[in-house]
Amino acid sequence: MTRLSEPPHLVWPTAAVRTSYLAGERADCLAEGRPTDWLGPAGDDFEAFVAQRRGVQIRWDVPATVFWYVSGEHYLGTLVVRHRLTPELATAGGHIGYHVVTPWRRQGHATRMLAAGLSECLGLGLERVLLTCASDNEASRRVIQANGGVPDGQAHGEDRFWITVPRS
Ligand SMILES: CC(C)(COP(=O)(O)OP(=O)(O)OC[C@H]1O[C@@H](n2cnc3c(N)ncnc32)[C@H](O)[C@@H]1OP(=O)(O)O)[C@@H](O)C(=O)NCCC(=O)NCCS
Repeated sequence: MTRLSEPPHLVWPTAAVRTSYLAGERADCLAEGRPTDWLGPAGDDFEAFVAQRRGVQIRWDVPATVFWYVSGEHYLGTLVVRHRLTPELATAGGHIGYHVVTPWRRQGHATRMLAAGLSECLGLGLERVLLTCASDNEASRRVIQANGGVPDGQAHGEDRFWITVPRS
């Protein structure tokens, strides 16, 4: 297991983790059968790639902020906060999405990354957030419940949870 020089934390996308970001996302895309064609242009001009992802953007038809979970040169994962819900997101999708790249999974990073993401939510004026995960996604359900997720039924094959954002 790679030792980290500092505790991972959320930052806006940064060129400081270029190599590990591209390697981690490429491996996950290949493992999950997702396209990798976007990685070439991203790697060719990584400064522009990260610049496009910093700050508030419109995604899923709502303002959204993208965070990367990093430690030094290591990119561990991504967390996205959608600042509000559309009717579609209120059914499935919710306020927050995340993933941890494979080499860093099963080490508690997603659980801590979501906790850090909830702190960011307070700054965005969100006091209660909806999270959803596929009903067979045991890992994500555990991440959500470890952060106080309260079940609120199912929709479109997703389990729904509400989290009251901690004020600490
Ligand atoms: C879901 C995901 C973010 C979890 O990341 P992670 O860093 O491995 O999660 P953690 O290490 O914090 O583990 C959380 C819990 O899930 C458990 N877990 C992790 N991977 C698991 C797996 N494949 N199967 C069953 N349980 C698993 C852990 O043991 C831990 O359990 P505990 O709290 O009872 O000890 C990661 O697997 C991932 O990115 N998956 C693909 C994208 C995705 O599903 N995103 C969420 C969409 S809602």
